[in-house]
Amino acid sequence: MAFSHRVYLGLGSNLGDRAANLRYAVRRLPEFGVEVLAASPLYQTAPWGGVAQPDFLNQALLAATDLAPAELLAAVKRLEEAAGRLPTVFWGPRVLDIDILLYDELTFQSERLTIPHREMKNRAFVLAPLLDLSPELALPDGERAAACYARLPEAEKAGVRLYVERIGGKTHMEVIKTVAEMQELGRRWRAEGKKVGLVPTMGYLHEGHLALAKRSVAENDLTVMSVFVNPIQFGANEDLATYPRDLAGDVAKAASVGVDYVFAPEPADMYPEGFAASINLTGVTETLCGASRPGHFQGVCVVITKLFNLVQPTNAYFGQKDGQQLAVLKKLARDFNMPVKINGVPIVREADGLAKSSRNVYLDEECRKQALVLNQSLQAAKKLYDAGERDAEVIKAAVRAHIQTASLADIEYVEIVDALTMQPVSRPEGQVMLALAVRFKTTRLIDNILLGPDE
Ligand code: PAF
Repeated sequence: MAFSHRVYLGLGSNLGDRAANLRYAVRRLPEFGVEVLAASPLYQTAPWGGVAQPDFLNQALLAATDLAPAELLAAVKRLEEAAGRLPTVFWGPRVLDIDILLYDELTFQSERLTIPHREMKNRAFVLAPLLDLSPELALPDGERAAACYARLPEAEKAGVRLYVERIGGKTHMEVIKTVAEMQELGRRWRAEGKKVGLVPTMGYLHEGHLALAKRSVAENDLTVMSVFVNPIQFGANEDLATYPRDLAGDVAKAASVGVDYVFAPEPADMYPEGFAASINLTGVTETLCGASRPGHFQGVCVVITKLFNLVQPTNAYFGQKDGQQLAVLKKLARDFNMPVKINGVPIVREADGLAKSSRNVYLDEECRKQALVLNQSLQAAKKLYDAGERDAEVIKAAVRAHIQTASLADIEYVEIVDALTMQPVSRPEGQVMLALAVRFKTTRLIDNILLGPDE
């Protein structure tokens, strides 16, 4: 992010072409020193008090700026004037209203400005779009925006309705929260012949995910990134509850590489009461991680099938880091004749060689240091292979021996498999994947390297 302060703005308009006025503000904010990172959907709200007047359209923006709070206030006032806002009666109708809701973690009070915005906790038309951008958002006093919203009267919440005409009028990245809305967009894009890229993720984005997104942005008309911690791919004793989550950060990162839509559904919307589908690909799901994580790939296949049906992408992008997942999803698309190309993207590594992973945050200092043996052992195996070694047992033994030099490493598997079928090979021919899973204390890491010709 180029600017140093993260701000949330609330926009409103109830005069003239209301949606156009909001789009105008979003388009011109950069000229006023404010980079828009993400925009919520528009909501339609009956006005509060004052004279009789048309309904408002409201929107929340996540933005970045170098302006100090008072300078930011002056900038948004200038933009309101540029949009044609005239001095009006108190609570009267207006072409454009821009409120500063939050500014970093700051609590600030001057004669003209209060941060967080004085009324934001009490207004459904502020909180609803804000929660679309950032469902986990915490206010500087520690209270969650979602908790403030939850205690508002139902009648007030019901008065704030999603303004659906926005679908055609998108100007910036949007966060799609419902399955119904995602499906409507997917249908529309298919009908319009749009080339759509899908980047499925479980969030807590790192450079590896952003590499997938950048490929998609470069190769498609528009890119959807899903952020969904898929409960059905976790086993009973796995880390579903503690899996790291940061939707606000993810939205900002996705926006920074040009993603058009983040799709962040609720689990109950993806898997409503009575959901019963399962997909079982035999063979390819049974080795490596499939052996130690029963049900994992079934859960992955189900969620990806649902995402493909909703988004209807032309291309989907997955990291080679999860090499078996990539092979499984290629097979899924092939076996079901899914009209989507599955693209694998090379592993992104830290400067010292550790493969990027959302789970790396679990590693303590010592484990993080020792985890370097993984990539080192893969590189050593490649040297053996390049020197002509073709006995899989010899190569695997060398990898194991190197990993065991790390006292905290607990090997789950080291295996050489055919790159497409994921079946173990004893003498590598064609392209094979040397894959490993190793635990460092409670953290399970996987890594792999492809050996042999790309087929
Ligand atoms: O690789 C992941 O993050 C997940 O397995 C995926 C593909 C997003 C499915 O939930």
